[in-house]
Amino acid sequence: MIKTLLATAAVVTLSTAAQAQTIGFSQIGSESGWRAAETTLTRQQAEERGITLQFSDAQQRQENQIAAIRSFIAQGVDAILLAPVVATGWDSVLEEAKEAEIPVVLLDRQVDSSEDLYLTAVGSDLVHEGEVAGQWLVDTVGEDECRVVELQGTTGSSPAIDRKTGFENAIEGHDNIEIVRSQTGDFTRTGGKEVMESFLQAEGGGENICALYAHNDDMAIGAIQAMKEAGVNPGEDVLVVSIDAVPDIFQAMANGDANATVELTPNMAGPAFDALEAYMADGTEPEKFIQTESKLYTQDDNPEAEYEARKDLGY
Ligand code: AHR
Repeated sequence: MIKTLLATAAVVTLSTAAQAQTIGFSQIGSESGWRAAETTLTRQQAEERGITLQFSDAQQRQENQIAAIRSFIAQGVDAILLAPVVATGWDSVLEEAKEAEIPVVLLDRQVDSSEDLYLTAVGSDLVHEGEVAGQWLVDTVGEDECRVVELQGTTGSSPAIDRKTGFENAIEGHDNIEIVRSQTGDFTRTGGKEVMESFLQAEGGGENICALYAHNDDMAIGAIQAMKEAGVNPGEDVLVVSIDAVPDIFQAMANGDANATVELTPNMAGPAFDALEAYMADGTEPEKFIQTESKLYTQDDNPEAEYEARKDLGY
């Protein structure tokens, strides 16, 4: 009798474990090469783990993300991944997910809601990324006067806020370095190009600019194009430092058009699925923040090889 009960329990446990989970993923959109890679890797990771991924592209709109989360709740998904476009305005929908007992994992960006409304957040230290970029500039220009133009990410997003703060922290006390213009390029290449064109016009055709700090590589790549069209030599006349480490920025570095980038891994889903798996298996609570690395790459780090290593990874 006991043997039969144990055998039945084992079958039930195995079949539950083997059952594919359904996870909803509310993605911001496809504004950058980095985000395309994050989407590709999330789909791959889900497939490898036998997870059914319900994917929703919010096209950069928070209201679309909120609607997607409500639809995931109505479907009764097992968990939700959320890459939040902006930091504010999530309380109600996260409370709804909590009431429905659906764990939410934040990917790559932060929210200003109470920590008990989500299971964990996977991402980098966004302030630190800005500090790494700023420190590179401090070390590179030394005592020289340097007028910096800044391309900010999406207004109200945590990377735009924190990468700005981090860069400002790094240049603080270095009076020779000054941010003279700062505007959003919305994390897109076209945004970066358009805003850089206006910076160039306002700054003597680029004569008065020593460096560009872009909150992501895509905006830097757009800005590089704007500089070339204006007869300015990016990477030499204007130093270029940005964040993400997408393949195209390594190509730009190999050509001498960009100088440095800070890596943000697009594999946020791997640690997120690991945390969810442990939580669902036996209730293991993950750390509230699962931090990924922020490595600096410069032209000395064999950019050709870095490009080759990344070019087929879904960017
Ligand atoms: O939240 C991460 C940022 O969002 C990436 O740096 C940027 O490329 C993306 O759009």
